[in-house]
Amino acid sequence: MIKLAPSILSSDFARLGRELDILSKAGADYVHLDVMDGHFVPNITIGPPVIRSLRPQCGLVFDVHLMISRPMDFIDSFALAGADIITFHLESASDTREVRDIITKIKSAGKKVGIALRPGTDIQCAYEFVQYVDMVLIMSVNPGFGGQEFIAASLDKARRLRQYLDSLGLNADIEMDGGINLANVREVLNAGVNVVVVGSAIFDRGDICAATSEYLKIFEERK
Ligand code: DX5
Ligand code: ZN
Repeated sequence: MIKLAPSILSSDFARLGRELDILSKAGADYVHLDVMDGHFVPNITIGPPVIRSLRPQCGLVFDVHLMISRPMDFIDSFALAGADIITFHLESASDTREVRDIITKIKSAGKKVGIALRPGTDIQCAYEFVQYVDMVLIMSVNPGFGGQEFIAASLDKARRLRQYLDSLGLNADIEMDGGINLANVREVLNAGVNVVVVGSAIFDRGDICAATSEYLKIFEERK
């Protein structure tokens, strides 16, 4: 099952509720909510209060991408705000033990758990955790901003991860995030990615609904 996760980072934050409505009506599965603290990444976006306000608004899966330091301190507030999937960066944990503790914390909050890797982090760093998580997020841009160029080396990371998961009989989702557009999305899917984050390539188009439908149509072709 291939899922589209439009990222709100390039949306009009003054009309966020309306834009989620459009995504929902266009048939998107997820909405990708980028949380940035200005410390782990050089940008600041939204936190739990915004997610709490958006939650009653729509039934989209809230795919929360934490680009923050000390994620452990914030799991409960994002879970309470209405996150469905909480993804944190391996690089934001001090060691393996803390990664495992954060995974446990997210699960005990009743949420799905994702682990994310920056482009510079080798995919093997995820291997010891894949049996415990629902999703692995492979960043295909350096985290912090939308509208960046896709890093092609990310495709090989996805291929290697998908092979590794298959070798263990695991079916965790592989999400790819950053610089994805109509020109490269098929390559992303061919690499074994099944959750596709698209930000500026949807929101920078005038018609969000039409742009969303174009990705969904490509996914349909692959069924
Ligand atoms: C970047 C974010 C991505 C970004 C994707 O740090 O994690 O989700 O918003 O936006 P595009 O698709 O424009 O690269
Ligand atoms: Zn993201």
